[in-house]
Amino acid sequence: MNEQILILDFGSQYTQVIARRVRECQVYSTIMSFDTPAAKLAELKPKGVILSGGPASVYDEEAPLPDPAVFELGIPVLSICYGLQVAAFFLGGKVEPGTRREFGKGRLRIRDSGCELFKGLPSEFQVWNSHGDKVTKLPAGFHGVAETENSKHAAIEHRRKKQYGLQFHPEVVHTAHGREIISNFVHTVCGCGKNWTMRRYVDQAVEEIRSQVGQERVILGLSGGVDSSVAAALIHKAVGDQLTCIFVNNGLLRAREAEVVQEVFGRHFKIKLQYEDAEKLFLKKLGKVTDPERKRKIIGNTFIRVFESATKRAGKARFLAQGTLYPDVIESVPIAGNPAAMIKSHHNVGGLPKDMKFQLVEPLKRLFKDEVRQLGLELGVPPEIVHRQPFPGPGLAVRILGEVTTDRLRIVREADAIVVEEMKSSKWYYKIWQSFAVLLPVKSVGVMGDERTYEFTIAIRAVESQDGMTADWVKLPYDLLERLSNRIINEVKGVNRVCLDISSKPPATIEWE
Ligand code: XMP
Repeated sequence: MNEQILILDFGSQYTQVIARRVRECQVYSTIMSFDTPAAKLAELKPKGVILSGGPASVYDEEAPLPDPAVFELGIPVLSICYGLQVAAFFLGGKVEPGTRREFGKGRLRIRDSGCELFKGLPSEFQVWNSHGDKVTKLPAGFHGVAETENSKHAAIEHRRKKQYGLQFHPEVVHTAHGREIISNFVHTVCGCGKNWTMRRYVDQAVEEIRSQVGQERVILGLSGGVDSSVAAALIHKAVGDQLTCIFVNNGLLRAREAEVVQEVFGRHFKIKLQYEDAEKLFLKKLGKVTDPERKRKIIGNTFIRVFESATKRAGKARFLAQGTLYPDVIESVPIAGNPAAMIKSHHNVGGLPKDMKFQLVEPLKRLFKDEVRQLGLELGVPPEIVHRQPFPGPGLAVRILGEVTTDRLRIVREADAIVVEEMKSSKWYYKIWQSFAVLLPVKSVGVMGDERTYEFTIAIRAVESQDGMTADWVKLPYDLLERLSNRIINEVKGVNRVCLDISSKPPATIEWE
């Protein structure tokens, strides 16, 4: 079993960031609900526990509180922000209510350089504070090791018990040396080695897949996106020809997508690939429909039908593989004010019928996206696929406003290919969340040579985002925008105008439909 750090989630918007920071230290981490009984935590033999922050106050009637026995397990505990107040509250300190929790910069001054958390760090640096309740009296056995302008007890420790509390957030990038603090906690305090790497995970996952699957057959819906591609490569490494991948060409794919998938998975990896050409069917089903929700529903339902009949043709299989990731399986803590808990994806159009009688194989469900990408590279999946930007299940249909026709698909596909090419050659593609073209079925007047034209408009959308939940539009350089505009208007027949979408999410969404 992996050495691991358990993170108790009190509803912080940063809980997953804490988990990722720990893993960046090459230590495995698992997020658990704040109220998991201490005995259950102990069964997992963690090397340490981290209490996340959270929006609540320990004085709230419904304040999320952990099993107090967590502090008696005899393993190191790092309590962050709200976690610190919880610790102080339980261990006999005093917490004074403050106003609403807010964040802000502060300067941390270390008073006790003997504290292992701050080993090797300067005596003063910037931290990202959380101003909420304040610890005014320390619990017995604790002493203050650092302070900020606002808080005498910005960092506290119980040296013998190896219990620490931080008023600030070491996991956010605005805290200088935050990574070192977390690394000191997991390596120096908890004594974890650097065992969590994707190279090792390959062997572990291969073994797990083999023991789950035995001699049975596995089916996987390959979309050409990062997750299903990496899952395919991994499962194929584990069980070879017992895996059949089904690739559905719905006619709504990006340029060369179907070819690349066949080339990479069929010819290079030699994975059994069942190619389903359903272009005509999808277009026929979409007909003249213009309502975005109806379009999504039609595409989702048609996908299910095509996939279902494809699985029948693929022969009897007991297992269905899915590229589910860790953030999809973490149970968010339903605490008011926690945005991560409130927004659930409205997508999953590629979801499968509930009555399909398969057992699931989900070899990525312990991984974050960046780990999946590393794993993909480790398995030899080409960087072109591993570093792909997200692409919606309903494909180009949600990037054509209104009716989807063959000609409109051609236009948006050609424009998209230009966007991808230019974004890649200027290196912007890899720096941002998504960049793509949207076809607006609005015709406007233009001139080309001596001719007046009356053609469609392409909108360029480029956004930065951490997880797709919120997004900012990217300030691309003018020369790149100029190249995009010139090329799209000159090379894509049917377009005479290019616009840039400068809306953020919220209130706009990333896709236009
Ligand atoms: P929105 O448009 O909701 O998009 O701001 C957020 C992120 O989700 C992607 N997206 C989808 N992904 N099926 C998917 O698999 C869908 O139906 C779908 N709709 C949007 C979008 O590309 C963005 O990254």
